[in-house]
Amino acid sequence: MSVGGGAPQRRVHVVTWGCQMNVYDSERIADVLAADGWQMAEDASDANLVVLNTCHIRERAAEKVFSELGRLRRLKEARAAEGRQLRLAVAGCVAQAEGEEILARAPFVDVVLGPQTYHRLPGLLARAEREGAVIDTDFPAETKFDFLPEARARTGGPVAFLAIQEGCDKFCSFCVVPYTRGAEMSRPAAAVIAEARTLVRRGAREITLLGQNVNAWRGEAPGGKNWSLAELLRALAGIEGVARLRYTTSHPRDMDEGLIAAHRDLPALMPFLHLPVQSGSDAVLKRMGRKHRGADYLRIVEKLRAARPDIALSSDFIVGHPGESEADFEATLALVRAVGFAQAFSFKYSPRPGTPAANAADQVPEKDKKARLAALQALLREQQIRFNQAMVGRRMSVLFAGAGRKAGQAVGRSPYLQPVHVDAPAGPLALVGQIREVRILSALPNSLSATLDREEPAFACQT
Ligand code: 5AD
Ligand code: SF4
Repeated sequence: MSVGGGAPQRRVHVVTWGCQMNVYDSERIADVLAADGWQMAEDASDANLVVLNTCHIRERAAEKVFSELGRLRRLKEARAAEGRQLRLAVAGCVAQAEGEEILARAPFVDVVLGPQTYHRLPGLLARAEREGAVIDTDFPAETKFDFLPEARARTGGPVAFLAIQEGCDKFCSFCVVPYTRGAEMSRPAAAVIAEARTLVRRGAREITLLGQNVNAWRGEAPGGKNWSLAELLRALAGIEGVARLRYTTSHPRDMDEGLIAAHRDLPALMPFLHLPVQSGSDAVLKRMGRKHRGADYLRIVEKLRAARPDIALSSDFIVGHPGESEADFEATLALVRAVGFAQAFSFKYSPRPGTPAANAADQVPEKDKKARLAALQALLREQQIRFNQAMVGRRMSVLFAGAGRKAGQAVGRSPYLQPVHVDAPAGPLALVGQIREVRILSALPNSLSATLDREEPAFACQT
Protein backbone atom coordinates (compact mmCIF):
# COMPACT_ATOMS: atom_id res chain seq x y z
CA MET A 1 0.00 0.00 0.00
CA SER A 2 1.37 3.38 -0.85
CA VAL A 3 1.21 6.23 1.58
CA GLY A 4 -1.55 8.63 0.82
CA GLY A 5 -2.54 12.25 1.40
CA GLY A 6 -0.74 14.23 4.04
CA ALA A 7 1.07 11.24 5.60
CA PRO A 8 4.82 11.77 5.85
CA GLN A 9 6.69 10.08 3.03
CA ARG A 10 8.27 6.77 3.96
CA ARG A 11 11.86 6.82 2.79
CA VAL A 12 14.39 4.14 3.68
CA HIS A 13 18.15 4.07 3.28
CA VAL A 14 19.81 0.64 3.41
CA VAL A 15 23.53 0.30 4.24
CA THR A 16 25.12 -3.03 3.29
CA TRP A 17 28.31 -4.64 4.57
CA GLY A 18 29.81 -7.99 3.64
CA CYS A 19 29.20 -10.64 1.05
CA GLN A 20 27.06 -10.88 -2.07
CA MET A 21 24.42 -12.67 -0.02
CA ASN A 22 24.08 -9.52 2.05
CA VAL A 23 23.78 -7.42 -1.12
CA TYR A 24 21.01 -9.77 -2.23
CA ASP A 25 19.34 -9.63 1.20
CA SER A 26 19.42 -5.82 1.15
CA GLU A 27 17.62 -5.86 -2.18
CA ARG A 28 14.99 -8.19 -0.74
CA ILE A 29 14.64 -5.98 2.37
CA ALA A 30 14.01 -3.12 -0.05
CA ASP A 31 11.39 -5.26 -1.84
CA VAL A 32 9.60 -6.05 1.44
CA LEU A 33 9.55 -2.38 2.40
CA ALA A 34 8.53 -1.23 -1.09
CA ALA A 35 5.48 -3.49 -0.81
CA ASP A 36 4.68 -1.60 2.41
CA GLY A 37 4.88 1.85 0.79
CA TRP A 38 8.53 2.70 1.36
CA GLN A 39 10.70 4.42 -1.23
CA MET A 40 14.48 4.18 -1.47
CA ALA A 41 16.62 7.08 -0.25
CA GLU A 42 20.21 7.50 -1.48
CA ASP A 43 21.39 8.88 1.82
CA ALA A 44 20.54 8.65 5.53
CA SER A 45 19.97 12.41 5.64
CA ASP A 46 17.11 11.95 3.18
CA ALA A 47 15.48 8.99 5.00
CA ASN A 48 13.18 8.38 7.95
CA LEU A 49 14.31 4.78 8.32
CA VAL A 50 17.90 3.51 8.10
CA VAL A 51 18.57 -0.22 7.91
CA LEU A 52 22.13 -1.41 8.60
CA ASN A 53 22.59 -4.83 7.01
CA THR A 54 25.64 -6.14 8.82
CA CYS A 55 28.37 -8.77 8.42
CA HIS A 56 30.02 -10.66 11.25
CA ILE A 57 32.48 -12.86 9.40
CA ARG A 58 35.72 -11.16 10.33
CA GLU A 59 37.28 -8.75 12.78
CA ARG A 60 35.86 -5.45 13.93
CA ALA A 61 32.49 -6.03 12.23
CA ALA A 62 30.56 -5.17 15.38
CA GLU A 63 32.75 -2.13 16.08
CA LYS A 64 32.03 -0.75 12.61
CA VAL A 65 28.32 -1.16 13.28
CA PHE A 66 28.52 0.64 16.63
CA SER A 67 30.51 3.50 15.16
CA GLU A 68 27.95 3.92 12.36
CA LEU A 69 25.20 3.78 15.00
CA GLY A 70 26.94 6.58 16.91
CA ARG A 71 26.72 8.77 13.81
CA LEU A 72 23.07 7.85 13.27
CA ARG A 73 22.26 8.57 16.91
CA ARG A 74 23.32 12.19 16.40
CA LEU A 75 21.19 12.38 13.25
CA LYS A 76 18.24 10.86 15.13
CA GLU A 77 18.61 13.39 17.96
CA ALA A 78 18.86 16.30 15.53
CA ARG A 79 15.68 15.07 13.82
CA ALA A 80 13.86 14.68 17.13
CA ALA A 81 14.76 18.27 18.02
CA GLU A 82 12.91 19.32 14.84
CA GLY A 83 9.94 17.14 15.80
CA ARG A 84 10.71 14.59 13.06
CA GLN A 85 11.40 10.90 13.32
CA LEU A 86 14.31 8.72 12.25
CA ARG A 87 13.95 5.01 12.87
CA LEU A 88 16.90 2.66 12.96
CA ALA A 89 17.01 -1.07 12.23
CA VAL A 90 20.02 -3.35 12.53
CA ALA A 91 19.77 -6.48 10.36
CA GLY A 92 22.09 -9.26 9.23
CA CYS A 93 24.69 -11.39 10.99
CA VAL A 94 25.90 -8.94 13.68
CA ALA A 95 22.25 -8.50 14.66
CA GLN A 96 21.83 -12.28 14.82
CA ALA A 97 24.98 -12.78 16.90
CA GLU A 98 24.71 -9.78 19.21
CA GLY A 99 21.01 -8.93 19.36
CA GLU A 100 20.73 -8.09 23.08
CA GLU A 101 24.15 -6.46 23.14
CA ILE A 102 23.07 -4.04 20.40
CA LEU A 103 20.08 -2.81 22.37
CA ALA A 104 22.17 -2.60 25.55
CA ARG A 105 24.85 -0.48 23.89
CA ALA A 106 22.59 1.40 21.49
CA PRO A 107 19.14 1.69 23.12
CA PHE A 108 18.10 4.24 20.50
CA VAL A 109 17.87 1.41 17.90
CA ASP A 110 14.24 0.53 17.10
CA VAL A 111 14.49 -2.94 15.52
CA VAL A 112 17.09 -5.70 15.59
CA LEU A 113 16.44 -8.55 13.16
CA GLY A 114 18.39 -11.55 11.93
CA PRO A 115 18.92 -12.75 8.35
CA GLN A 116 15.99 -15.19 8.54
CA THR A 117 13.31 -12.71 9.61
CA TYR A 118 13.57 -9.68 7.36
CA HIS A 119 10.21 -10.55 5.75
CA ARG A 120 8.76 -9.52 9.16
CA LEU A 121 10.33 -6.04 9.10
CA PRO A 122 7.12 -4.05 8.42
CA GLY A 123 5.38 -5.77 11.35
CA LEU A 124 8.41 -5.24 13.59
CA LEU A 125 8.49 -1.53 12.75
CA ALA A 126 4.83 -1.23 13.66
CA ARG A 127 5.45 -3.09 16.93
CA ALA A 128 8.42 -0.88 17.78
CA GLU A 129 6.21 2.16 17.20
CA ARG A 130 3.70 0.86 19.76
CA GLU A 131 5.93 -0.90 22.29
CA GLY A 132 9.48 0.40 21.91
CA ALA A 133 12.56 -1.46 20.70
CA VAL A 134 12.08 -5.04 19.43
CA ILE A 135 14.43 -7.93 18.68
CA ASP A 136 13.61 -10.77 16.28
CA THR A 137 16.50 -13.17 15.78
CA ASP A 138 14.41 -16.35 15.45
CA PHE A 139 15.11 -19.11 13.02
CA PRO A 140 11.43 -19.37 12.13
CA ALA A 141 9.79 -22.53 10.83
CA GLU A 142 8.48 -20.61 7.82
CA THR A 143 11.04 -19.63 5.22
CA LYS A 144 11.34 -15.96 4.39
CA PHE A 145 11.46 -16.89 0.69
CA ASP A 146 7.78 -17.84 0.84
CA PHE A 147 6.89 -14.40 2.18
CA LEU A 148 8.95 -12.15 -0.03
CA PRO A 149 7.12 -10.12 -2.63
CA GLU A 150 8.20 -10.35 -6.24
CA ALA A 151 11.15 -8.05 -6.83
CA ARG A 152 9.95 -4.44 -7.03
CA ALA A 153 12.56 -2.10 -5.75
CA ARG A 154 15.34 -3.81 -7.62
CA THR A 155 16.48 -1.72 -10.51
CA GLY A 156 17.16 -4.72 -12.72
CA GLY A 157 20.19 -4.72 -14.97
CA PRO A 158 22.22 -7.21 -16.96
CA VAL A 159 23.96 -8.79 -13.94
CA ALA A 160 21.75 -10.30 -11.23
CA PHE A 161 22.09 -12.36 -8.06
CA LEU A 162 19.71 -15.12 -7.06
CA ALA A 163 19.87 -16.79 -3.61
CA ILE A 164 19.18 -20.53 -3.95
CA GLN A 165 20.63 -21.86 -0.71
CA GLU A 166 21.32 -20.53 2.71
CA GLY A 167 23.05 -21.59 5.88
CA CYS A 168 25.75 -24.12 6.61
CA ASP A 169 26.03 -27.41 8.47
CA LYS A 170 29.79 -27.75 8.18
CA PHE A 171 30.84 -25.89 11.33
CA CYS A 172 34.41 -25.06 10.36
CA SER A 173 36.30 -24.24 13.57
CA PHE A 174 36.73 -20.53 12.77
CA CYS A 175 33.41 -19.59 11.20
CA VAL A 176 30.27 -17.88 12.51
CA VAL A 177 28.06 -18.68 9.52
CA PRO A 178 26.41 -21.85 10.92
CA TYR A 179 25.42 -19.80 13.98
CA THR A 180 24.28 -16.63 12.23
CA ARG A 181 22.69 -18.12 9.11
CA GLY A 182 21.48 -21.38 10.59
CA ALA A 183 21.19 -24.85 9.08
CA GLU A 184 21.54 -25.54 5.36
CA MET A 185 18.35 -25.05 3.41
CA SER A 186 17.74 -25.13 -0.33
CA ARG A 187 14.99 -23.36 -2.22
CA PRO A 188 12.86 -25.61 -4.43
CA ALA A 189 13.88 -25.72 -8.10
CA ALA A 190 10.55 -24.30 -9.28
CA ALA A 191 10.96 -21.18 -7.09
CA VAL A 192 14.50 -20.65 -8.38
CA ILE A 193 13.46 -21.08 -12.01
CA ALA A 194 10.52 -18.67 -11.55
CA GLU A 195 12.80 -16.03 -10.02
CA ALA A 196 15.34 -16.52 -12.82
CA ARG A 197 12.61 -15.89 -15.40
CA THR A 198 11.59 -12.69 -13.55
CA LEU A 199 15.21 -11.52 -13.54
CA VAL A 200 15.51 -12.16 -17.29
CA ARG A 201 12.30 -10.21 -17.92
CA ARG A 202 13.92 -7.34 -16.01
CA GLY A 203 16.95 -7.41 -18.26
CA ALA A 204 19.34 -9.88 -16.61
CA ARG A 205 21.67 -11.72 -18.97
CA GLU A 206 23.99 -13.10 -16.32
CA ILE A 207 22.74 -14.74 -13.13
CA THR A 208 24.97 -15.61 -10.17
CA LEU A 209 23.44 -18.24 -7.90
CA LEU A 210 24.19 -17.48 -4.27
CA GLY A 211 24.51 -19.59 -1.16
CA GLN A 212 26.85 -19.91 1.80
CA ASN A 213 27.32 -23.47 0.56
CA VAL A 214 25.84 -23.10 -2.87
CA ASN A 215 27.07 -26.42 -4.27
CA ALA A 216 25.39 -28.24 -1.37
CA TRP A 217 22.09 -27.19 -2.99
CA ARG A 218 19.69 -30.14 -3.30
CA GLY A 219 16.21 -29.40 -4.42
CA GLU A 220 12.82 -30.75 -5.04
CA ALA A 221 12.33 -30.65 -8.77
CA PRO A 222 9.46 -31.04 -11.22
CA GLY A 223 8.09 -34.59 -11.35
CA GLY A 224 9.02 -35.32 -7.73
CA LYS A 225 12.71 -35.69 -8.60
CA ASN A 226 15.58 -34.59 -6.42
CA TRP A 227 18.09 -32.40 -8.20
CA SER A 228 21.65 -31.41 -7.39
CA LEU A 229 23.17 -28.09 -8.44
CA ALA A 230 24.36 -29.54 -11.78
CA GLU A 231 20.77 -30.32 -12.78
CA LEU A 232 19.54 -26.92 -11.64
CA LEU A 233 22.24 -25.24 -13.72
CA ARG A 234 21.19 -27.29 -16.76
CA ALA A 235 17.59 -26.15 -16.32
CA LEU A 236 18.58 -22.51 -15.87
CA ALA A 237 20.87 -22.62 -18.91
CA GLY A 238 17.80 -23.67 -20.92
CA ILE A 239 15.86 -20.47 -20.08
CA GLU A 240 15.77 -18.19 -23.09
CA GLY A 241 17.74 -15.03 -22.34
CA VAL A 242 20.08 -16.57 -19.76
CA ALA A 243 23.44 -16.06 -21.43
CA ARG A 244 25.74 -16.52 -18.47
CA LEU A 245 25.61 -18.43 -15.20
CA ARG A 246 27.87 -18.41 -12.16
CA TYR A 247 27.54 -19.75 -8.62
CA THR A 248 29.23 -18.87 -5.35
CA THR A 249 30.42 -19.87 -2.71
CA SER A 250 31.29 -23.54 -3.01
CA HIS A 251 32.83 -26.07 -0.63
CA PRO A 252 35.36 -28.58 -2.02
CA ARG A 253 33.46 -31.44 -0.35
CA ASP A 254 30.36 -30.75 -2.46
CA MET A 255 32.18 -30.42 -5.81
CA ASP A 256 30.64 -33.59 -7.25
CA GLU A 257 31.29 -35.25 -10.63
CA GLY A 258 28.01 -33.96 -12.08
CA LEU A 259 28.89 -30.37 -11.24
CA ILE A 260 32.36 -30.74 -12.74
CA ALA A 261 30.75 -32.20 -15.89
CA ALA A 262 28.42 -29.18 -16.06
CA HIS A 263 31.53 -27.03 -16.54
CA ARG A 264 32.33 -29.15 -19.61
CA ASP A 265 28.81 -29.28 -21.03
CA LEU A 266 27.22 -25.88 -20.43
CA PRO A 267 28.62 -23.01 -22.49
CA ALA A 268 26.58 -20.59 -20.34
CA LEU A 269 28.43 -21.69 -17.21
CA MET A 270 31.30 -19.22 -17.01
CA PRO A 271 34.85 -20.59 -16.69
CA PHE A 272 35.48 -19.14 -13.25
CA LEU A 273 35.08 -20.79 -9.87
CA HIS A 274 35.50 -19.45 -6.36
CA LEU A 275 36.44 -22.52 -4.33
CA PRO A 276 37.80 -21.70 -0.86
CA VAL A 277 40.55 -24.02 0.37
CA GLN A 278 41.55 -21.96 3.49
CA SER A 279 44.91 -23.73 3.99
CA GLY A 280 47.32 -26.07 2.21
CA SER A 281 48.33 -27.94 5.36
CA ASP A 282 46.50 -31.18 6.16
CA ALA A 283 47.13 -30.67 9.88
CA VAL A 284 45.50 -27.21 9.78
CA LEU A 285 42.66 -28.39 7.53
CA LYS A 286 41.95 -31.09 10.09
CA ARG A 287 41.98 -28.56 12.94
CA MET A 288 39.66 -26.39 10.90
CA GLY A 289 37.26 -29.31 10.45
CA ARG A 290 37.26 -28.70 6.72
CA LYS A 291 36.51 -32.31 5.70
CA HIS A 292 39.06 -32.23 2.85
CA ARG A 293 42.82 -32.47 2.52
CA GLY A 294 45.16 -30.48 0.29
CA ALA A 295 45.42 -33.40 -2.15
CA ASP A 296 41.60 -33.57 -2.47
CA TYR A 297 41.59 -29.92 -3.51
CA LEU A 298 44.34 -30.48 -6.09
CA ARG A 299 42.45 -33.45 -7.51
CA ILE A 300 39.28 -31.37 -7.90
CA VAL A 301 41.26 -28.65 -9.66
CA GLU A 302 42.74 -31.24 -12.01
CA LYS A 303 39.29 -32.61 -12.86
CA LEU A 304 37.87 -29.12 -13.37
CA ARG A 305 40.71 -28.28 -15.74
CA ALA A 306 40.18 -31.53 -17.63
CA ALA A 307 36.50 -30.61 -18.00
CA ARG A 308 37.06 -26.94 -18.84
CA PRO A 309 40.73 -26.25 -19.63
CA ASP A 310 40.46 -22.46 -19.38
CA ILE A 311 38.69 -22.41 -15.99
CA ALA A 312 40.04 -19.68 -13.72
CA LEU A 313 40.23 -20.39 -10.01
CA SER A 314 39.71 -18.19 -6.99
CA SER A 315 39.92 -19.07 -3.32
CA ASP A 316 39.82 -17.89 0.28
CA PHE A 317 42.75 -18.38 2.65
CA ILE A 318 43.15 -17.94 6.38
CA VAL A 319 46.65 -17.56 7.81
CA GLY A 320 47.43 -18.02 11.49
CA HIS A 321 44.60 -20.38 12.46
CA PRO A 322 45.37 -21.71 15.97
CA GLY A 323 48.16 -24.25 15.82
CA GLU A 324 49.45 -23.17 12.38
CA SER A 325 53.25 -23.61 12.28
CA GLU A 326 55.69 -22.07 9.84
CA ALA A 327 55.81 -25.44 8.02
CA ASP A 328 51.99 -25.47 7.78
CA PHE A 329 52.10 -22.03 6.25
CA GLU A 330 54.76 -23.22 3.75
CA ALA A 331 52.29 -25.94 2.73
CA THR A 332 49.75 -23.22 1.93
CA LEU A 333 52.28 -21.43 -0.28
CA ALA A 334 53.06 -24.76 -1.98
CA LEU A 335 49.37 -25.35 -2.71
CA VAL A 336 49.03 -21.85 -4.16
CA ARG A 337 52.04 -22.50 -6.42
CA ALA A 338 50.61 -25.86 -7.49
CA VAL A 339 47.20 -24.41 -8.44
CA GLY A 340 47.96 -20.97 -9.87
CA PHE A 341 45.03 -18.73 -8.90
CA ALA A 342 43.45 -16.05 -11.07
CA GLN A 343 42.52 -14.15 -7.91
CA ALA A 344 41.96 -14.87 -4.23
CA PHE A 345 41.00 -13.42 -0.87
CA SER A 346 43.24 -13.93 2.14
CA PHE A 347 42.75 -13.04 5.79
CA LYS A 348 44.48 -13.18 9.12
CA TYR A 349 42.64 -15.53 11.43
CA SER A 350 40.45 -13.56 13.82
CA PRO A 351 38.76 -15.31 16.75
CA ARG A 352 34.99 -15.14 16.47
CA PRO A 353 33.23 -15.44 19.82
CA GLY A 354 31.34 -18.71 20.17
CA THR A 355 33.37 -20.63 17.58
CA PRO A 356 35.61 -23.53 18.69
CA ALA A 357 38.90 -22.05 17.40
CA ALA A 358 38.39 -18.88 19.43
CA ASN A 359 39.01 -20.85 22.63
CA ALA A 360 42.09 -22.74 21.41
CA ALA A 361 45.18 -22.29 23.59
CA ASP A 362 47.68 -22.24 20.71
CA GLN A 363 46.73 -18.89 19.11
CA VAL A 364 49.34 -17.63 16.63
CA PRO A 365 51.08 -14.35 17.55
CA GLU A 366 49.89 -11.29 15.63
CA LYS A 367 53.34 -10.58 14.17
CA ASP A 368 53.49 -14.09 12.62
CA LYS A 369 50.01 -13.71 11.18
CA LYS A 370 51.00 -10.37 9.71
CA ALA A 371 54.20 -11.70 8.11
CA ARG A 372 52.42 -14.77 6.70
CA LEU A 373 49.60 -12.68 5.26
CA ALA A 374 52.10 -10.37 3.54
CA ALA A 375 54.00 -13.31 2.02
CA LEU A 376 50.81 -15.04 0.85
CA GLN A 377 49.34 -11.85 -0.61
CA ALA A 378 52.57 -11.12 -2.50
CA LEU A 379 52.40 -14.57 -4.12
CA LEU A 380 48.69 -14.31 -4.90
CA ARG A 381 49.14 -10.87 -6.40
CA GLU A 382 51.97 -12.11 -8.59
CA GLN A 383 49.70 -14.91 -9.85
CA GLN A 384 46.82 -12.51 -10.48
CA ILE A 385 49.05 -10.17 -12.49
CA ARG A 386 50.40 -13.11 -14.49
CA PHE A 387 46.87 -14.33 -15.15
CA ASN A 388 45.72 -10.90 -16.33
CA GLN A 389 48.79 -10.38 -18.51
CA ALA A 390 48.21 -13.71 -20.23
CA MET A 391 44.95 -12.20 -21.58
CA VAL A 392 46.70 -9.49 -23.64
CA GLY A 393 46.10 -10.02 -27.36
CA ARG A 394 43.26 -12.50 -26.75
CA ARG A 395 39.68 -12.19 -27.93
CA MET A 396 36.87 -12.84 -25.50
CA SER A 397 33.26 -11.94 -24.81
CA VAL A 398 32.38 -9.19 -22.35
CA LEU A 399 28.98 -8.49 -20.81
CA PHE A 400 28.77 -4.72 -20.41
CA ALA A 401 27.10 -3.48 -17.25
CA GLY A 402 27.76 0.26 -16.98
CA ALA A 403 29.91 3.32 -17.52
CA GLY A 404 33.60 3.10 -16.64
CA ARG A 405 35.39 5.54 -14.39
CA LYS A 406 36.87 7.48 -17.31
CA ALA A 407 34.58 9.55 -19.51
CA GLY A 408 33.42 7.73 -22.65
CA GLN A 409 34.37 4.30 -21.31
CA ALA A 410 32.14 1.32 -20.67
CA VAL A 411 32.93 -1.48 -18.26
CA GLY A 412 31.90 -5.10 -18.26
CA ARG A 413 33.11 -8.48 -17.09
CA SER A 414 35.15 -11.09 -18.94
CA PRO A 415 34.13 -14.75 -18.66
CA TYR A 416 36.83 -14.94 -15.94
CA LEU A 417 35.17 -12.13 -13.96
CA GLN A 418 37.82 -9.50 -14.68
CA PRO A 419 36.53 -5.95 -15.17
CA VAL A 420 37.14 -4.96 -18.81
CA HIS A 421 37.16 -1.32 -19.96
CA VAL A 422 36.56 -0.22 -23.57
CA ASP A 423 36.15 3.13 -25.29
CA ALA A 424 32.51 3.40 -26.27
CA PRO A 425 32.16 5.89 -29.11
CA ALA A 426 28.34 5.72 -29.10
CA GLY A 427 28.29 6.35 -25.33
CA PRO A 428 28.83 3.76 -22.58
CA LEU A 429 25.14 3.28 -21.90
CA ALA A 430 24.52 2.08 -25.46
CA LEU A 431 26.60 -0.99 -24.61
CA VAL A 432 24.89 -1.87 -21.33
CA GLY A 433 23.32 -5.34 -21.47
CA GLN A 434 25.25 -6.33 -24.60
CA ILE A 435 27.66 -9.24 -24.79
CA ARG A 436 30.36 -8.20 -27.24
CA GLU A 437 33.56 -9.69 -28.54
CA VAL A 438 36.59 -7.61 -27.59
CA ARG A 439 40.34 -7.82 -28.03
CA ILE A 440 42.42 -7.29 -24.88
CA LEU A 441 44.96 -4.48 -25.30
CA SER A 442 46.54 -4.29 -21.87
CA ALA A 443 46.34 -5.61 -18.33
CA LEU A 444 46.43 -3.92 -14.95
CA PRO A 445 46.56 -5.88 -11.68
CA ASN A 446 42.78 -5.62 -11.21
CA SER A 447 41.35 -5.00 -14.66
CA LEU A 448 41.83 -5.24 -18.42
CA SER A 449 41.52 -2.70 -21.16
CA ALA A 450 40.18 -3.75 -24.55
CA THR A 451 38.84 -2.65 -27.88
CA LEU A 452 35.49 -3.67 -29.33
CA ASP A 453 36.01 -6.12 -32.15
CA ARG A 454 34.17 -4.06 -34.74
CA GLU A 455 36.73 -1.28 -34.30
CA GLU A 456 39.44 -3.63 -35.50
CA PRO A 457 39.78 -2.34 -39.11
CA ALA A 458 40.08 1.30 -38.02
CA PHE A 459 42.60 0.33 -35.40
CA ALA A 460 44.60 -1.70 -37.94
CA CYS A 461 44.68 1.22 -40.43
CA GLN A 462 46.23 3.54 -37.91
CA THR A 463 49.23 1.31 -37.34
N1 5AD B 1 39.01 -15.23 10.59
C1 5AD B 1 39.51 -14.93 9.38
N2 5AD B 1 38.88 -15.19 8.22
C2 5AD B 1 37.68 -15.79 8.29
N3 5AD B 1 36.84 -16.18 7.33
C3 5AD B 1 35.76 -16.72 7.93
N4 5AD B 1 35.89 -16.70 9.27
C4 5AD B 1 37.09 -16.13 9.52
C5 5AD B 1 37.80 -15.84 10.71
N5 5AD B 1 37.32 -16.15 11.90
C6 5AD B 1 37.12 -16.07 5.91
C7 5AD B 1 37.19 -17.46 5.25
C8 5AD B 1 35.91 -17.52 4.47
C9 5AD B 1 35.72 -16.06 4.10
C10 5AD B 1 34.36 -15.68 3.65
O1 5AD B 1 36.08 -15.35 5.27
O2 5AD B 1 38.30 -17.51 4.40
O3 5AD B 1 35.96 -18.38 3.36
FE1 SF4 C 1 31.82 -21.19 7.31
FE2 SF4 C 1 32.09 -22.05 4.77
FE3 SF4 C 1 32.97 -23.58 6.81
FE4 SF4 C 1 30.33 -23.23 6.44
S1 SF4 C 1 31.81 -24.27 5.03
S2 SF4 C 1 31.40 -23.13 8.38
S3 SF4 C 1 30.25 -21.10 5.70
S4 SF4 C 1 33.75 -21.54 6.15
